[in-house]
Amino acid sequence: MKRKQLKLGIFGFGCVGTGLYQTLSETTGIQANIVKICVKDRTKYRPFPTQDYFTFDRNDILNNPEVDVVVELMDDADAAFQIVTTALKNGKAVVTANKKLIAEHLDHLISISQQYNTPLLYEAACCASIPVIRNLEEYYDNDLLSSVSGIFNGSTNYILTKIADEGIDYGPALEMAIDKGFAETDPTYDIKGWDSRYKLSIIIAHAFGLIVQPSDILSIGIDQVKTKDIQYAREKGLLIKLVASAQREGNEVLAVVAPKFVSKSNVLATVNNEYNAVQITGAFSEQQLFIGKGAGGFPTGAAVLSDISALTFAYRYEYKKLNQKDNIVLAKDFLVEVYMSFEDQADINFDDFHLISESYVGKGHSYIIGQISSSQLKKQKWSENPSVSVILIGKIGQEKANNLQHELAEIEAYCE
Ligand SMILES: NC(=O)c1ccc[n+]([C@@H]2O[C@H](COP(=O)([O-])OP(=O)(O)OC[C@H]3O[C@@H](n4cnc5c(N)ncnc54)[C@H](OP(=O)(O)O)[C@@H]3O)[C@@H](O)[C@H]2O)c1
Repeated sequence: MKRKQLKLGIFGFGCVGTGLYQTLSETTGIQANIVKICVKDRTKYRPFPTQDYFTFDRNDILNNPEVDVVVELMDDADAAFQIVTTALKNGKAVVTANKKLIAEHLDHLISISQQYNTPLLYEAACCASIPVIRNLEEYYDNDLLSSVSGIFNGSTNYILTKIADEGIDYGPALEMAIDKGFAETDPTYDIKGWDSRYKLSIIIAHAFGLIVQPSDILSIGIDQVKTKDIQYAREKGLLIKLVASAQREGNEVLAVVAPKFVSKSNVLATVNNEYNAVQITGAFSEQQLFIGKGAGGFPTGAAVLSDISALTFAYRYEYKKLNQKDNIVLAKDFLVEVYMSFEDQADINFDDFHLISESYVGKGHSYIIGQISSSQLKKQKWSENPSVSVILIGKIGQEKANNLQHELAEIEAYCE
C-alpha cells in the first residue's frame, strides 16, 4: 500500500507537543509535515521551531484546506471537544492524547467519526508509550479477554516509587513529578485516580466492547495514603501501587481504580517511576504484560507519532468488540477486600463491612481489614475523609478470584 503524505495542524505545544515535534524531526520514514501549530499564550517563549508555524486562531487549522490531520495536544478538554468535533466534521482525521476528552465523549466521538468518515486515533491517551489500544483492536480482537489491569498513571507511580525507595515525603515527590512534566496540568486528576479511570474506561471499550462513563467507575486516589500505611506495607514486605483493573465475570465488567498492596513477587512491584504496565488476560493468549513509559514528552510524543504513521496507511479503529454487541454491562456492585486505616473510630462504620478479618487499634495507627461492597465504598465517600485511607487488597466479585486468594494468603501470613 502506498503511504499517504500528510499535512498536520497541531493544537498545543507543551510537554507532548514539543515531544512530538522533536520525534517527528528525527524520524525518517514518516511522510508528514507540520503546516501550523495553534497555541494559547501569546507571551510564552517558544524554543523552536520558527515563529512562522504558530497561530492563536484555531480556524487557521480547522478551516485550512491544506491540513488533513489535526493533532490535538492541549491541556483543556472542553476546548479540545470543540476542536476535535469540528475537525472531524470538516473532514480532517484527528489524533489526540486527551484521555478526559475521549473517555467522557467516546460514544459521541465514534458516531461523528463514522458519520463524517474521518478517523480518530488516541493511542497516547492510554498509558502513553504502551501500544495498548491498537493491540486490543487488532491482536486481541477475537480473544475472550477476562481482565485488563495494571498501573495506568505515570505521575502517581513516580510519587509512590520515590516514597517507597527514597523515603521522600508525598508533597516533595508530587513537586518532582510536576517538574518532570509527568503530571497533568491539574495534578488532582492524577492523585485522585481520575486519570487512571479515564484510561480504564477507554480500555474497557476496546477490550470488552462496553462504553462506560468514567464517573461510574469506583476510584480511590493516593492522596490519603498515610506515612503509617507506607510503614505498614514496608513491615509486611509489600508495596503500594495505584492499580486500575477491569475484570469480566459473565456479562459483567468489574472495574475499579485504587491504591493496592502488591507483594514484591508481583510483576507490578517491578514497575517503577513513570513506567506503566498493562496486564491482559485472555482465554486463548493467557496472561501478557506490557511495560513502558506512561508519561513524558518523548514517550507520549512517540505514541502520537505512531498514530500519525498509522494514518499514512489509512488506519482507523473498527471497534470490533463494540460491534460484537455482547450485552455486557458494568457491574453495579461487587465485594472488595480492603485495608482501611483511620485516626478516629467514629470515622468508620464497622457495620458497612460484610466481614472483618482483622482489626487493630493503636496509638496513631488503627486499621481494619475486611470485605465491603463497592457500592458502599462509593456511597460512603471515604475518599473525601482526609483521616481515612483505603487500600485495596483484592477484588472478590461473585466468585473469589484465585489471585486474590494468593495475595490475601500472603498478607494474612505476614499479619500473623
Ligand atoms: N504530559 C504527559 O506525560 C502526557 C501523557 C499522556 C497524555 N497527555 C495528554 O496530552 C495532552 C497535553 O499534555 P501536556 O502535558 O503536553 O500539556 P501542557 O504541557 O500543559 O501543554 C498544553 C498546551 O496546550 C495549549 N493550549 C491550552 N489551551 C489551548 C487552546 N484553547 N488553544 C490552543 N492551545 C491551547 C497550551 O498553549 P500555551 O503553550 O500557549 O500555554 C500548551 O501549549 C493532555 O491532554 C494530556 O492529558 C500528557
